[in-house]
Amino acid sequence: MAKKPLHINYKKIIKLTLAYFISLLLLSILTLFWHLDIISFDYKGNSKQVDDIFFMNYDIAQLDDSEENKIVKYGFELFQNTPKYIGPDNGNSEKVYSGNRLSCNNCHLQAGTKPFAAPLIGVINRFPQYRGRENKIGTIEERINGCFVRSMNGKMLPPESEEMTALVAYLKWLNHYAPKDGNINGQGFVNIEIPNRAINLENGKQIYDNVCVRCHGIDGKGVKSSNGFTYQYPPLWGNDSYNNGAGMNRVITAAQFIKANMPFDETYESLKLTDEEAYDVAGYINQMQRPIKTNLDQDFPDLLKKPVSTPYPPYQDPFSMEQHQKGPFQPIIEFYKKTYNINKTK
Ligand code: HEC
Ligand code: HEC
Repeated sequence: MAKKPLHINYKKIIKLTLAYFISLLLLSILTLFWHLDIISFDYKGNSKQVDDIFFMNYDIAQLDDSEENKIVKYGFELFQNTPKYIGPDNGNSEKVYSGNRLSCNNCHLQAGTKPFAAPLIGVINRFPQYRGRENKIGTIEERINGCFVRSMNGKMLPPESEEMTALVAYLKWLNHYAPKDGNINGQGFVNIEIPNRAINLENGKQIYDNVCVRCHGIDGKGVKSSNGFTYQYPPLWGNDSYNNGAGMNRVITAAQFIKANMPFDETYESLKLTDEEAYDVAGYINQMQRPIKTNLDQDFPDLLKKPVSTPYPPYQDPFSMEQHQKGPFQPIIEFYKKTYNINKTK
């Protein structure tokens, strides 16, 4: 039998090889664009991407009872049930540091691990840090005490106290996957488009009555937990709420918190309130009576650093206190941009 001559189709081989390399090239270009954020594949189905670091395991129960872990666990306990240990009715009058019965967890949700609820993952690496409120470099202990004298309407914990040591140990433990600079997507709060108008208090009240009242109550005073120390639904105003010097008492900050976290069954993935609604209801709760902090005129020694919705004077601009509380904020933001070339976001 005569052998068939071996027929090599060079044209086809060249074509296939070319096609192969062109596909490879296209794929690398796409990958490069993706890395440079020029294009994005929305594989998680939402546009408000947060870092994977939020989905790691932060279950404190996995820790054994070594001496070191005991401190971390006490820090976690304090974070979740603050008034039980250092609140007004903890039973030891020498250990009353918070003036209200809020827990850290009421604002830093899911034990400080929820994106866009001022999460505290990575915070250790972000300190020491420059702070405008004091116009100096502050330590993590000083930052925590910032929440003690404002959000908790209390007094400062001594930096070397068992409680402060434990809180810091807990934050250090939360930090174990964090990048070196501590900055992650999902940090702080969501951005909202600030409506170019003053707060509409009537609309705010309506939203409160329709959406918030079922948990926070008709008088805004919340509902206590069955343990008698903490709140199941924390108060939004009144004597047991954050004081007027707290970050949450700035309308823009409160609106951003509410937008991504309230009603409590919501998350940043399925936002319920519009920006306008979050803005109006934040204005409504922050116009209510709450504890007054003394010496607020000494905050922000460099007034240019003062956030525009800080509700108390003095200011480095000609706008009234009322406008700093209820807006419209655009004219104030534009004033700082034009006069001082400063971009204000809160
Ligand atoms: C009433 C709400 C509220 C409570 C309660 C509260 N905080 Fe805060 N905390 C805030 C707000 C608002 C900020 C500012 C976040 C921002 O501007 O990104 C903040 C910021 C912080 C920061 C700095 C975060 C950062 O990213 O720089 C730390 C640390 C902190 N709080 C710790 C605590 C601890 C510990 C407790 C309990 C003792 C506590 N907070 C209780 C509202 C609260
Ligand atoms: C389903 C119940 C529920 C609803 C509805 C709800 N909240 Fe909350 N809210 C909570 C809980 C629970 C917390 C504390 C979270 C924690 O400790 O885990 C909280 C915390 C807060 C906080 C921070 C803590 C504090 O006391 O200052 C604010 C501010 C807040 N809610 C505002 C609102 C507003 C405004 C609405 C309406 C738009 C609303 N909430 C609707 C349950 C709810």
